[in-house]
Amino acid sequence: MPAAALMSRSEAAEAKSTKAAAPKKATAPATPLTLPPVQPGPAYLMAGPMLGHVGPDRVHVWVRGTAAAPWKILLTEPGAQTREIDGGSLKAEAGLSGIAVVYGLKPGTSYTYQIVLDDREQLPLPLPSFTTAPETGHAGRQRIVFGSCVGQTVAAAAPVWAELAERRAMSTGEGAFDLLLMLGDNHYGNTTEIEKLRVYYTAHRLSAGWRDLSARSPVYAIWDDHDYGPNNSDGTEAGKADSLKTFQEFWANPACGEAGNPGCYFTFTRGDVQFFMLDGRYHRSPNKAEDAPGKTMLGTKQLEWLKRELQASKAKIKLLANGSEWESYGSEDSWTHFKQERDPFLRWIDEQKIEGVIFLSGDRHFSSGYHINGRFLELSAGPVGSVNSKLRANPERFTGHDEGRLWGVLDIDTTVSPPRVAYEFWQAGHSMRERREISWAQLHGREKIERTPGYVL
Ligand SMILES: [Fe+2]
Repeated sequence: MPAAALMSRSEAAEAKSTKAAAPKKATAPATPLTLPPVQPGPAYLMAGPMLGHVGPDRVHVWVRGTAAAPWKILLTEPGAQTREIDGGSLKAEAGLSGIAVVYGLKPGTSYTYQIVLDDREQLPLPLPSFTTAPETGHAGRQRIVFGSCVGQTVAAAAPVWAELAERRAMSTGEGAFDLLLMLGDNHYGNTTEIEKLRVYYTAHRLSAGWRDLSARSPVYAIWDDHDYGPNNSDGTEAGKADSLKTFQEFWANPACGEAGNPGCYFTFTRGDVQFFMLDGRYHRSPNKAEDAPGKTMLGTKQLEWLKRELQASKAKIKLLANGSEWESYGSEDSWTHFKQERDPFLRWIDEQKIEGVIFLSGDRHFSSGYHINGRFLELSAGPVGSVNSKLRANPERFTGHDEGRLWGVLDIDTTVSPPRVAYEFWQAGHSMRERREISWAQLHGREKIERTPGYVL
């Protein structure tokens, strides 16, 4: 395609979703990421600690060392004794990554922790702390950060991580939040090779802002094409089991697929908000396949699982997160080209009278809000580091931002009836660009979501 021919491979990949956008200036291909040399002496912490799932009674902690070594967590509840949790051994065959789960915690409680490698304490004072989730089913307010597309270099997303690390404990008006959702393109390894994937995952965890942020805030991740395999990759990718193995080494999610059906998907409930984190790659039909019955983004078993979980959900708000956009006028790499699966599913949600559904996505290198079919709310956020793509006219879009490094915030309050839902878009170095409340009637398609004043496309 002529536009792509003018671009480097990495730029072509970044601009994949905006085929009608102006061609970008040609630049050198992205330099492959590498890790700093390991210093001589005993094993030390190269990256982490990073929190994954933080439930009302447990925490998942990830670390990566420089050499094989036993490790443990020292966990302290203020005013109580310190507990020692054995993490086992960091092993070369697992990329020197380790994940430990600590059980028996109290809901809504702050804990401080230290990481010990080979009997040496790794973290300087003051030690990081985190707060466990409220009790499941408990009404409350929570602010959820979501974003995608970290960019080709570690530096690209560093301003966002540093800013989020600062904002996490500020006031809500200054962007404080409770947890972080990574919605794919969490690196651009563009491979299924385990060793290369390990380098890419680790490299992005070396920035000071990321370490600060992820040691204190729960982090949940799904993948999109670039951290699963090559650009626009799908279920035909030969090395996908290796990609999944590496994904599991590096993300401390609460679960990963199901017995008998691999994938990175999982669900968890925080208070009375339930999150459905979906895998849009492992079982995906090729984008170019005809959009006929049988073409799938989720695969039959994952879709059945999703329906079962939605039917069983008692949560007031249900967030369905996917790398690719859900809207009707998207790129070739979106649900727009999987309507044979999407549309019956959307109808099913209404037939089942499932309330409080919000769709989340990323991928596009701009941030947007859509009212899908005038019925469902979708919020798409990013890029946290990648080069921007330009917005184009789209009849379902009611707002959009396409300049700078962007992330989204969902601000949900379930202490009122019906729950109050607001979204925000934030830009690194430019604070909050937009905040809007979406009424319950708008969320269920009974009222139109008017365009945000100033949004003209
Ligand atoms: Fe991307």
